[in-house]
Amino acid sequence: MTYESTVPGELSDPALRGASPLPEPGAVTIVVPTFNESANIRELLRQITASVPARLPCEVVFVDDSTDDTPEVIRDAARGCPYPVTVLHREAPVGGLGGAVVEGIRAATSDWIVVMDGDLQHPPALVPELVAAGERAPAGLVVASRYIKGGSREGLAGGYRVAVSRAATWLTKTLFPHRLRGISDPMSGFFAIRRSAVTADVLKPLGYKILLEMAVRARPRQVTEVPFVFQERFAGESKSSAQEGFRFLRHLAGLRTASPVARMVVFGLIGATGFLPNLFGLWALTAAGMHYLPAEIVANQFGVAWNFLLIEHLCFRDRRQHRHWWDRAGRFALLANADLVLRIPLIALLVGRFGMSALTATALALVTTFVLRFAGTEALVYLPRKGGRTGGGAATGQGRRARSRTARRSS
Ligand code: GDD
Ligand code: MN
Repeated sequence: MTYESTVPGELSDPALRGASPLPEPGAVTIVVPTFNESANIRELLRQITASVPARLPCEVVFVDDSTDDTPEVIRDAARGCPYPVTVLHREAPVGGLGGAVVEGIRAATSDWIVVMDGDLQHPPALVPELVAAGERAPAGLVVASRYIKGGSREGLAGGYRVAVSRAATWLTKTLFPHRLRGISDPMSGFFAIRRSAVTADVLKPLGYKILLEMAVRARPRQVTEVPFVFQERFAGESKSSAQEGFRFLRHLAGLRTASPVARMVVFGLIGATGFLPNLFGLWALTAAGMHYLPAEIVANQFGVAWNFLLIEHLCFRDRRQHRHWWDRAGRFALLANADLVLRIPLIALLVGRFGMSALTATALALVTTFVLRFAGTEALVYLPRKGGRTGGGAATGQGRRARSRTARRSS
């Protein structure tokens, strides 16, 4: 069951909002995704209470996917808080951590939203400073960064995590040099965003890197950073895993192939890697004594299978829902082999007439038919049928926000 509970506090009283010494907008919704964090909740709310409401009216929205008693602990601890605390417990953890954050953003009522982890690796005392920096700049997005002067990743446990984090940051910055300009720590899970700067509906979060998702898909015009020291976890263990790492790579691929031009480039790069299994197959088969023409046909299937797998996962991850995988594989193979039907006479011509080697002729013909194949694949395999859905895991939240509002009013 999904349930929501709110403990009312000062934010629900508009008169009190007006009493804030800060210029409008002067309130913040702190969104905290939680997965089995019961041992951290009391300390987190204690630290928020100690450092936020005196400087900035706030509310806290927990978006919880726990299998333990975290929601009960939250509701119990919330009774002592001088601000509203809401728990949205999700039936299914759609989109993981990132999906939870988007749900929280939809439920937020303030002009500023701060997203932070529930394990105290992100110091709550910095929340008013993030919002103040955003007001001063003025900026739509304020990133708490470990990689600018004054920041550090002290609490990142172990050399392995540090190396992975560095590699991920480097890869991400390399893939999105423009979108991430001015963001030194795109992997950060601690940031403030103006609600007016983010349209939750364009987000398709997948796993941990929700800031990256926002920066790339809903990039606010002005971005600024505030240094912070990434602390040790207060209690419990990190929920990230190798599986989360693969999710991150899929997420990167999805972001990078969102535009048709980028998709064609990636399609081409994958096609280029298809040379390898193709030429390897051709080499193996002709070495085994097969005539090069039938060998072309068989070797091509190596390339087709390789390309299909990579293209499915790296290029059209978001566009697969409207056909079964065997339907897509069939169409893909058909296109690739129709391409072969076209290519074989061309290769025979190049070999027979111009005396090229089978390998050179194959390479040349593969390049020639590439553009045709890309257009065909887009149109016939992955283009959604009219009225069909194109995916996006975040399509359900609008109703939930409305419900959340109702829950507030009636409580
Ligand atoms: N609702 C929900 N659903 N919350 C989740 C889920 C989920 O599936 N998975 C994790 N969380 C919550 C955790 O309970 C915690 O509050 C927060 O998300 C961060 O999870 P951790 O497991 O503590 O992540 P981490 O410390 O390894 O990674 C953090 O630091 C990284 C920087 O090194 C995160 O902030 C990452 O986003 C960040 O990149
Ligand atoms: Mn953590």
